[in-house]
Amino acid sequence: MDIASTPSNPAGNPEMADAAVEPHDPATTMRKNYQPPAWLVSEIRLEFELGLELTKCVATMRVERNPDGDGDQTLHLSGDNIAVMNLKVDDADAEGWSMSGPNLLLPLSGDAHKVTVETHLHPATNSQLMGLFASNGMLCTQCEAEGFRRITFFPDRPDVLSRYTVRMTGDKATFPVLLSNGNLVETGENGDGSHWAVWDDPWLKPSYLFALVAGQLVANRDTFTTMSGRKVDLAVWVREGDLERTDHAMRSLINSMKWDEEAFGREYDLDQFNIVAVADFNMGAMENKGLNIFNTRYVLADPETATDGDYDGVEGVVGHEYFHNWSGNRITCRDWFQLSLKEGFTVLRDQMFSADMGSEPVKRIEDVRVLRAAQFPEDSGPLAHPIRPDSYQEISNFYTATIYNKGAEVIRMMHTMAGPERFREGTDLYFDRHDGEAATCEDFVKSMEDGAKLDLSQFRLWYEQAGTPKVTMHATFDQSEGAVTLHFTQKVPATPGQPTKQPMPIPIKVALFDRDSGTHGGEQLLMVDKSKADFTFKGFTRPPVISANRGFTAPIQLDAENNDDDLVFLAAHDDDAFARYESLQQLVTRELLGSIENGPDEKRRGAIADAMGAVIDDAQIDDLMRGELLMLPTLTFLLELAAPADPVALHHARERLKAHIGLRLRDKLIALHERASAIPYGLDARARGARKVKTQALVMLTAADPKEAAARAEAQYRSATNMTDRQGALMVLAGIGCPARSELLADFHARFDGNALVIDKWFALQAGSLDPKVLDRVEALAQHADFTIKNPNRVRSLYMTMAGNMAAFHDESGRGYRMIADLVLQLDPLNAQTAARFIPWLGRWRKIEPKRAALMRAELERIAAAPDLSKDTREQVTKSLD
Ligand code: ARG
Ligand code: ZN
Repeated sequence: MDIASTPSNPAGNPEMADAAVEPHDPATTMRKNYQPPAWLVSEIRLEFELGLELTKCVATMRVERNPDGDGDQTLHLSGDNIAVMNLKVDDADAEGWSMSGPNLLLPLSGDAHKVTVETHLHPATNSQLMGLFASNGMLCTQCEAEGFRRITFFPDRPDVLSRYTVRMTGDKATFPVLLSNGNLVETGENGDGSHWAVWDDPWLKPSYLFALVAGQLVANRDTFTTMSGRKVDLAVWVREGDLERTDHAMRSLINSMKWDEEAFGREYDLDQFNIVAVADFNMGAMENKGLNIFNTRYVLADPETATDGDYDGVEGVVGHEYFHNWSGNRITCRDWFQLSLKEGFTVLRDQMFSADMGSEPVKRIEDVRVLRAAQFPEDSGPLAHPIRPDSYQEISNFYTATIYNKGAEVIRMMHTMAGPERFREGTDLYFDRHDGEAATCEDFVKSMEDGAKLDLSQFRLWYEQAGTPKVTMHATFDQSEGAVTLHFTQKVPATPGQPTKQPMPIPIKVALFDRDSGTHGGEQLLMVDKSKADFTFKGFTRPPVISANRGFTAPIQLDAENNDDDLVFLAAHDDDAFARYESLQQLVTRELLGSIENGPDEKRRGAIADAMGAVIDDAQIDDLMRGELLMLPTLTFLLELAAPADPVALHHARERLKAHIGLRLRDKLIALHERASAIPYGLDARARGARKVKTQALVMLTAADPKEAAARAEAQYRSATNMTDRQGALMVLAGIGCPARSELLADFHARFDGNALVIDKWFALQAGSLDPKVLDRVEALAQHADFTIKNPNRVRSLYMTMAGNMAAFHDESGRGYRMIADLVLQLDPLNAQTAARFIPWLGRWRKIEPKRAALMRAELERIAAAPDLSKDTREQVTKSLD
């Protein structure tokens, strides 16, 4: 908006303004430079006159000198794209203030003052979706991490905790619903068609947790009674036509509230809890105090329009945001370097919640798959950073799989080392000790040491060092002693800014299996805490089969040097679900990497097909687990191991193996598809499992015989009663050149026309398909009437899906790279946060064979050469080229 209207020579003292000017190049913020704020804001009252085109905001703050600050006389208020329309100190026109770039500097004489500042906002043209913005005719906010400064001038940092009162007034027809944080305390009519509401949040909070929503919304309402008997009014707010798709979100919310009481002893602390669904949103959701704001895709679900995966997404994200009320809001972060304090811990909490709501082993496998596909590549690339970074240019770039998912793994290791009871004592102590504070990762670790009785001195390295540790395990057997020795080595690879590393403490759970009985004598947790460590076990008459890193106790790359026979044995016998899955994955990985160099290994391929056949026949496991075991490793994970790789060759190798399995297991897969198809729709584990294996069977059959499978897929599509089956069938059809392809894609579009979340799927199905013409299709789809670059979900459904489609993105012409770079350049001025998220795909060039790598680099250079790049994209591109 109108940064141009900023008074260049504001009222007051011009000399002083000049003296205070600081350089404003994209400065790097360093963790070690943390300083407590010089000024605190004990209270803030925000008064909004709402309008889509123009919203006026008057903020009145009680500012007080921080006794722990450095005594700076000048109050520094951050701003971003806003101008001072009026500024008062203690009700008199402010004097001597100046602008320092986007920020406001206000010299103050006393120790406490009332500061009033007026700003004018233009939500309708706020395409960045940070601060106050319009979406589908409603107003809403996103303030984390630094969006509050786009609303008013404020010490916009998480260690300034204030009490908020919010008064909104607006046209009643345009904004019938007025929401903010905390409790609704007053409402009224102005008599001119406008009305107002006052919300009061009794809990101190940082500015990033502020939220406001105004618009035409309807609510799904329910109540929850907390463990101490407090009745809470719950509401899930959506647009009129979406109400019937909110039951799952509401159920998930109620389950989350109950679960946090039981699992962590955490009770909700306000009379109301509101969730609002917004169609235009950069991220998944936001935990604003008492007013969570969600991307519609994590709220709306019904059988016809949402897949089982979507249902899980809603449950997980509703849980995640709710759990932030304690891990994030009651205890927040001192500075943004501590982001994983709330995100890593909260991801662990949502993982535990989802595991308790569904299947624990299946959830663990899913979480590890995500970690390997998203976090491992980050950790070994140019954007690698520790879970507690040391520096950043744009904090929005640090909402990463490392901070979130590796952060969760690090706390999960504490859970593994302490056991559930002591872990709970640790978290109890943490919540108790730091309630109401802006805390650090160190505070969490210390609470864990004291509460869970762990010595975490060396373990702190997990917060400091980036990079996925590479661990090898080699077993030797001493016949005369009956002793097995496991020899471990570890190496933490160099990452940007961290050329040398220290050994980390790595908890590895192992079991030693007897080859004949297929049993083991109990699990052991080994701590590998040096670069080399040996562990000896006695009482063996022959070499056992070693099952290591059971449950994926540590986020490492483990090479356990198992031979094929051992892997086949473990795939059949391991009683740890993750380890069983893992041994099959390793066998497949070995075959795929090997086949690129030497062609397929017939014996190993046979062993894989046999093992998969045994999985299909195994009556001891449910279909949800069967589905996991039948899944081949993701290409992103394989790329990590193959580097420098030809991704297209890897893709073809993977397809060939699928075809081989499909051919070898044809009858079993057909029987599986038919058995699963006979189970009626339901949300129970049995029916969900059936849907999972149904489409998997179809996928393998298609790889083997596309023509025959097409008929089966078409039948599945036409008889589908739910989105899981329908999308699964169409995914298969979209990848093959069968006659039904375009007809059914058109049918899908017509059937769900106007439902944005399903139309997103329609785009993604085509951008992610195995069709060799994907790039042509993506180009055409970008011109489709339903495509808009303004909606992040739509942009991601087309372009993020294409970038993740290895065969398309890595087309040897370089066209896939060019399309992503073109998108970044077009999107960056509109929505920098979303644009910057595409850079890591191109940034992986070091992992790719030289010809493609050069093309990828060239696109990064083209982006880097563009004038006026956002801070977000600039940081990512620069680091990716280094
Ligand atoms: N705290 C939110 C969550 O984890 C994510 C918000 C991120 N927002 C952003 N602009 N980077 O649920
Ligand atoms: Zn979060």
